[in-house]
Amino acid sequence: MNKVCWIISLIVVSLSLAGQTKEKFVDNLLQKMTLEEKIGQLNQYSGDGFATGKVTVDPSKLSQIERGEVGAMLNVFGVENVRKLQQAAMKSRLKIPLIFGQDVIHGFRTTFPIPLGEAASWDLNLMEKTAHTAATEASAYGINWTFAPMVDICRDPRWGRIMEGAGEDPFLGSKIAVARVKGFQGKGLGQTDAVMACAKHFAGYGAAIGGRDYNTVDMSRLQLNEVYLPPFKAAANAGVATFMNAFNALNGIPSTANTYLLRDLLKGEWKYSGFVVSDWASIKELITQGVASNRKEAAFEAITAGCDMDMESRCYRENLKSLVLDGKVPVSIVDDAVRRILIKKYELGLFSDPFRFCQPERELQQTNNTQNRQLAREAGEKSIVLLRNENQLLPLNKTLKSLALIGPLVKSTIDNYGSWSVHFPDDSSRVVSLYEGIKTKLNPETKLYYSKGCNINDSDESRFEAAVQTAKMADVVVMSLGESWNMSGESKSKSNLHLPGVQENLLKAIYATGKPVVLLINAGRPLIFNWASDHVPAILYTWWLGSEAGNAIADVLFGDYNPSAKLPVTFPRAEGQIPMYYDHFNTGRPPKDDNDMIYTSRYIDLPITPAYVFGYGLSYTHFSFSNLKLSTSRLSIKSSEPLVVDVDVTNDGGYDGEEVVQLYVRDWVGSVVRPVKELKGFEKISIKKGETKTIHFKLNANNLKFFNAKIKWVNEPGKYTLFMGDSSNTVLETNFELTE
Ligand code: NOJ
Repeated sequence: MNKVCWIISLIVVSLSLAGQTKEKFVDNLLQKMTLEEKIGQLNQYSGDGFATGKVTVDPSKLSQIERGEVGAMLNVFGVENVRKLQQAAMKSRLKIPLIFGQDVIHGFRTTFPIPLGEAASWDLNLMEKTAHTAATEASAYGINWTFAPMVDICRDPRWGRIMEGAGEDPFLGSKIAVARVKGFQGKGLGQTDAVMACAKHFAGYGAAIGGRDYNTVDMSRLQLNEVYLPPFKAAANAGVATFMNAFNALNGIPSTANTYLLRDLLKGEWKYSGFVVSDWASIKELITQGVASNRKEAAFEAITAGCDMDMESRCYRENLKSLVLDGKVPVSIVDDAVRRILIKKYELGLFSDPFRFCQPERELQQTNNTQNRQLAREAGEKSIVLLRNENQLLPLNKTLKSLALIGPLVKSTIDNYGSWSVHFPDDSSRVVSLYEGIKTKLNPETKLYYSKGCNINDSDESRFEAAVQTAKMADVVVMSLGESWNMSGESKSKSNLHLPGVQENLLKAIYATGKPVVLLINAGRPLIFNWASDHVPAILYTWWLGSEAGNAIADVLFGDYNPSAKLPVTFPRAEGQIPMYYDHFNTGRPPKDDNDMIYTSRYIDLPITPAYVFGYGLSYTHFSFSNLKLSTSRLSIKSSEPLVVDVDVTNDGGYDGEEVVQLYVRDWVGSVVRPVKELKGFEKISIKKGETKTIHFKLNANNLKFFNAKIKWVNEPGKYTLFMGDSSNTVLETNFELTE
């Protein structure tokens, strides 16, 4: 079709769309569709370029698209590639456009910090902005659907996918889920810089037994509702366009075939109107999991449970027709799934213009966008957690005479992207390494030395001596240790969370020189580094920070940014403590302190505390909390009058800075056991040195509801303590009562 004909047909389509509701349009279209065409809409394939799962070689994909037998693609991006496949879809009888999905997890061309790292910023505006920027870039490359945000709560750092989420807490996790959904979906589907978001993995995936990926999940309904579902519910309420089901079985039933999760809860109780996509080949995996004996049964189980789209297993394509014709699956179930998908295509504006995400000018504009990189730098700075800073070793002085950079990650490039970044051929030239970032920051007079010391993960210590000599030449040593990018992420569960290889030995050798050491730990999960915590004066947890990693770290090291991040997850001292999380239940025998050994709930060979608590993170300055006041000591369940909480926060240190003021509560007596502390509010504020700010929070009875034994969300009157502080180890507290 030439350009003029195309424009004319666009105008005709647009005119015929005008004045129709999307429901009417979709119903009309449904009436015209054959059963095969309907099933085609439920079928999603990965492109041939690269894959994010085990590939099925299928040379007939293009012709299937031309026959209207495919509804969506994934792993195809770039205007030219997308256009080619969309053109094929336009050859189909009803010209139903394809949607293009991609794992845009923490950036697209510009890579932002891994989601767990960015969650440490506790900065919801920032997270909304980075998600929106990722959407802007991805949509300029033809993508209109991201498989993000991952909103799985995770309390087990052995699970490699902990890096993809927002950590352990349902309150923080829900706020972040909403920020990310809003960011991806921007001003609404239909804008060319908005992509459909996808809340995944529904549900419980982060609680895989033993932290082993894809493993079974078994948990009480109470825990599911209190901890694991809230971020999904929050995402649904925020209008997330799609859900993805999890790989795991939940309480004996695989999520892909889980009628309770998908039909009763999501589409029933929550009245969710978007569509559900399976995870990669998870329909087929119902056979391996043992709830279906063949592909036909697997298709039956999944579609009846409410899984609308089949990603890469082809079970729907092969079996749904006969399941319908044999009367096993009512066509109304297929129609409902198709309708949900077509509505989203309509909302994306694809029926008016299937090529609206295929504008080469936009693609070019978003290819190396310096503003986006600036945002990546800001996000990087805000994600770095200062864990230790003895004797104010940090920030370093830019006029330092000499500095040694030591460690296997100093010059590393692509590790900074972390897992789940989108790969391009020019990746290594587009990322700022630590070495480059520091070199750019330093005064030209400062001597900069470098020694790798060892590899990330082997037993070779032959370069230690050279590294020790390098350290001896410098006034200060900065060491960059940790994981490589592919040590966390999907199918990267680990049983040993210590610094890999001989890195800790290298650290000890350098520390023994007596030089002041600043340790940077790069990782996708909480690692265990007790020796460092006991000895090394300054430690920054730098996760994987993305395209601008080196600049962001240099900004923090030299005080151009005062660290403000707080851990979104507890850091254990030993693998044996896992799972360890701050909002646990009390037992009947909680230990009072570390000496309380006999008949208490603890390990006899470990302290009772973690290495670092949830919500913890230092600043170069210091904040004091005082004057915690409540507007009333009695909050009525019936009254709409909230409980107003005021607290004064004073910056009494030597630098301007930001603090995350955290509010927790404890409900002392309930009909079910309540956590020892629960986050109920936080506010990130910036305070100039010497200044005091009064921070206000409002709580109402709804904020204090919980699930009772009948899984009803209720208030129960009783005594509460409200805690305030700069981490979950709070510094102030006061009591109030919730009354009838
Ligand atoms: C499998 C992962 O579990 C999921 O998160 C991802 O979106 C799909 N593969 C597609 O890449």
